Amino acid sequence: MSASLAGRRVLISAGPTFEDIDPVRFLGNRSSGRMGFALAAAAVSLGADTVLVAGPVHLETPTNVRRIDVRSAAGMHAAVLAELPADLYIGAAAVADWTPRAVASQKLKKQPGVETLTLELVRTADILADVAAHPLRPRCVVGFAAETGDDAELARYARGKLERKRADFICANRVGVAGSGFEAEDNALHVFWNGGERRLGPAPKARLAEQLLGFIGERMPA
Ligand code: CTP
Repeated sequence: MSASLAGRRVLISAGPTFEDIDPVRFLGNRSSGRMGFALAAAAVSLGADTVLVAGPVHLETPTNVRRIDVRSAAGMHAAVLAELPADLYIGAAAVADWTPRAVASQKLKKQPGVETLTLELVRTADILADVAAHPLRPRCVVGFAAETGDDAELARYARGKLERKRADFICANRVGVAGSGFEAEDNALHVFWNGGERRLGPAPKARLAEQLLGFIGERMPA
């Protein structure tokens, strides 16, 4: 078994998405993009031809990575699907599940006496599920699951996503605790697949990315 990704095309999504409300406001999330960027760097070091579709983050593009910047979930969806075919897709982005039904063309103004604002949100398309169901489906499709809660809940949610989104691997990580998740330097992953699971880390995100890609590279269908 070899962990080399030489000659393989690897497509990675990273970072948050921003869903615009009006010309000055948006709905975002706390993803830093660091895990996805570290995965792109690790893919290059294993010899992959690597494309990174990045939401709005302030991170340097890793050497030899082709980067496509997007803003919204819809933009990320279009950019990712346009980059197929690929051998491996890793959905490390924290894609918004909801977006405002309409973007106001003018800044929303406060009105005297009006104390509430109701935003109508609609579901975004699921990029991971759409990649996994695509006629050009990559041989290996990997998703992430950011979860709060205990070990049993994390496993249940991750296995649910594995099945529902038809991914080959789901990498669950705990958010909302020190030393793991969105804004942390280090991270720990619990990788689930059909018939198995494996814990990686805690380790710095760069080291963890190498471990994860080595692990996936060895188990990718030929
Ligand atoms: N994802 C995606 N497109 C979306 C939403 C999520 O591709 N519109 C991907 C993420 O990149 C990540 C995984 O799906 O790989 C995370 O799924 P998540 O949003 O946590 O899962 P849900 O099934 O929406 O579950 P829940 O909101 O209940 O946690």
